[in-house]
Amino acid sequence: VPADRGDTIRNFLSPSSVAIVGASADETTLSGRLLYLLRQHGFAGKIYPVNPRHQTISGIQCYPSIADVPEAVDLALIAVPSASVADVVRQCGERNIPGAYVISAGFNEAPEGTTGAAAAQGLIAAARGGPTRVSGPNAEGIYNVIDDIALGFSPVLDYDHVLKSRPRPGNVAVIAQSGGLGFGIFNLGLARGIDFSHIITTGNEVDLDATDYLEFLVNDDDTDVVVLFIEGLERPSRLRELGLRAAECGKTIVVVKVGRSAEAQRAAVSHTGHVTGPGHLWSALLRSAGIVEVTDMADLLDVVAALSAWPSGGGSRVGIVGGSGGAGVWMTDVLRANGMEVPEIEEELQQEMRSFLPYYASPVNPVDFTAGIRQRSDMDRVLSLVGKSERLDVIVVVASLMHAPTPAETAALYRGIGEQTGKPVLTYSYTSPAQEAIAAFAAARVPIYLSQTGVARAVSALADRAVGIAAPPRELADSELADSELADSELADSELADRAAPPASLPVPDGETLHEAAVKEWLARCGFRLPAGHLAASAADAVSAAEAIGYPVALKAQSARLPHKAAAGVLALNLTCAAQVRGAYQAIHDRAVSAAGAGQVAGVLVEKMADPGFEMLVGISRDPSLGPFLTIGAGGTDTELLADVATLAAPATADQVRAALSGLRCGKVFDPRSSRALDTTAFCALAARISDIAARSPGLKELDLNPVIVHRAGHGTDIVDGLAVVSPALPGHGGRRYTD
Ligand SMILES: Nc1ncnc2c1ncn2[C@@H]1O[C@H](COP(=O)(O)OP(=O)(O)OP(=O)(O)O)[C@@H](O)[C@H]1O
Ligand SMILES: [Mg+2]
Repeated sequence: VPADRGDTIRNFLSPSSVAIVGASADETTLSGRLLYLLRQHGFAGKIYPVNPRHQTISGIQCYPSIADVPEAVDLALIAVPSASVADVVRQCGERNIPGAYVISAGFNEAPEGTTGAAAAQGLIAAARGGPTRVSGPNAEGIYNVIDDIALGFSPVLDYDHVLKSRPRPGNVAVIAQSGGLGFGIFNLGLARGIDFSHIITTGNEVDLDATDYLEFLVNDDDTDVVVLFIEGLERPSRLRELGLRAAECGKTIVVVKVGRSAEAQRAAVSHTGHVTGPGHLWSALLRSAGIVEVTDMADLLDVVAALSAWPSGGGSRVGIVGGSGGAGVWMTDVLRANGMEVPEIEEELQQEMRSFLPYYASPVNPVDFTAGIRQRSDMDRVLSLVGKSERLDVIVVVASLMHAPTPAETAALYRGIGEQTGKPVLTYSYTSPAQEAIAAFAAARVPIYLSQTGVARAVSALADRAVGIAAPPRELADSELADSELADSELADSELADRAAPPASLPVPDGETLHEAAVKEWLARCGFRLPAGHLAASAADAVSAAEAIGYPVALKAQSARLPHKAAAGVLALNLTCAAQVRGAYQAIHDRAVSAAGAGQVAGVLVEKMADPGFEMLVGISRDPSLGPFLTIGAGGTDTELLADVATLAAPATADQVRAALSGLRCGKVFDPRSSRALDTTAFCALAARISDIAARSPGLKELDLNPVIVHRAGHGTDIVDGLAVVSPALPGHGGRRYTD
């Protein structure tokens, strides 16, 4: 977090003097367009073209180098060949220029074997070694829409050919690593009636990155919505922090994350590794920070149009009003299918509508005033009455905008109702809207949709913003612990008691895999309750352990080479007497030795059989850049087949686990009304606690508790299997060895 309270970024967005290094009079070249666009937008500050080959450029005095510029410069726009950029940045440093925005390409984005990598190294060194903060290289520009300051070469900014007139300042900022897309979102957004505050493209991010700009915009009074287009981030955890802060301020971050595959796809040993991919992880990370994730450009525009037009208000209860019954019913179906509600409106309001609507109209919701409505003022009255309903959060007008006789009045009416009632109004047109209607609605800031799914996405984004996000995990104070509902359950109580204590250090395996007995020993040291068990070294040892534990018992060979014991045939369940234990021991031990190799079998775990229950998976995976995640879902040997899992950023709270569980098919058996009515409290507390321990054990790469047997409400859980992949190179390990 920079100590300059935003001064660094503010200087990039609104410099009062700009040097253009590599300036040119040729408006058809990239470097020539910098000066051209800056002046076309009427830049009010000083401009200093720098180019040793010219005395003047376009009538402005030109300087041979940055060192020759006579006055102080806020920002250097750099468009010289990549090999010279580092030098120019150093010269900027000597002049104490606070910022350099590098347009030049040919750095780390260039293919291997070119000079790109060396140029990037040089630029990074120059940026680190001096006072000048660097944005880019390979960036397209920054457009401060509020003050109409155009830095960069984007053709989208050209008044003559594209913009036509000065765009109305608005509350949507865009930060994009891709220049083309950043300005593309701006261009399409304008056509959609969206108003912007800042368009920022960040290129290769050798120094300043998207989160630096994001931090500024989250604190910027002009901005309510920030769109972030990212391919990757150096510091993804910062995105989570900023998401939480934005949510606190009532602002929304909308993210497009592209390039979700490849590098993060780890070799998966565990079930958890198989059912989670990097795409899931990004989504989980964003969700945990209250950030809206969008899938494609249409989705982005649909969501942003609503969030920006209505910076507050919204919810999932929708009133639908229109003159086409069919379009209203269709909208109802799509909204319902997307989890929105379309409740009946109050009887008094319905009565009042009946008093002036045709007898065949329907005032219930969807409200259909029909084509038989007599006059325009009656439509307005319907809308006002729907606006009065206390059962609704949002109004969707289903309209035909192909021919709107007085579009400005209509749009103003919609806007007014939204402002008076605090209920955002969205318009869906089931005909092709007339140009005048598009312009009038944009002017009044009432978004028009041509897709019902788009309306559903917009309503759900408004609803999510209104609800806010679940409080992030934190340590529970002792007093809260005593009051919490978890304190009722003996199991949850014991698991939460040492919540503040650091987790026990992880054992060190020979390779990377920890077998079940080692995982369980670690979990026991962390304070978890586990089924009684003993790692036996001989048949006699196994029998005496079984006698002490009490029958029935399970026998399971323990070897890091045999992560899946049932598949390897080294497991026996429900053994009820000494003779069975002795026989099973020998068979399992021999099979394990021949499958894993002599010296690779740590012993045979003799374990108390847990009571039958429902088998769940609790897993952890740690992405090298995104951090730890918790996966919960249907467990047992068919986990991959069922693919009924949810992934959350770790640590997760019990409430977050509960919310994720309710979205799963297997969540139904946790419902208190179901015949099985499982112990939701115990399971959620267990999963949350595991996620907490894992988050604080950086050496843990993967953990797979499959299954955790969940019993009926009040009867807790049993962790009956465990598998972990650890990285001995990472901290958090003790000195124990298990596989010898
Ligand atoms: N102590 C126990 N009490 C009750 N059932 C058990 C116990 N241990 C194992 N089981 C049952 O046996 C099955 C297989 O055991 P376990 O999960 O330990 O072996 P695995 O084959 O290594 O599992 P995975 O398929 O996860 O690799 C479990 O899914 C569970 O149904
Ligand atoms: Mg298992």
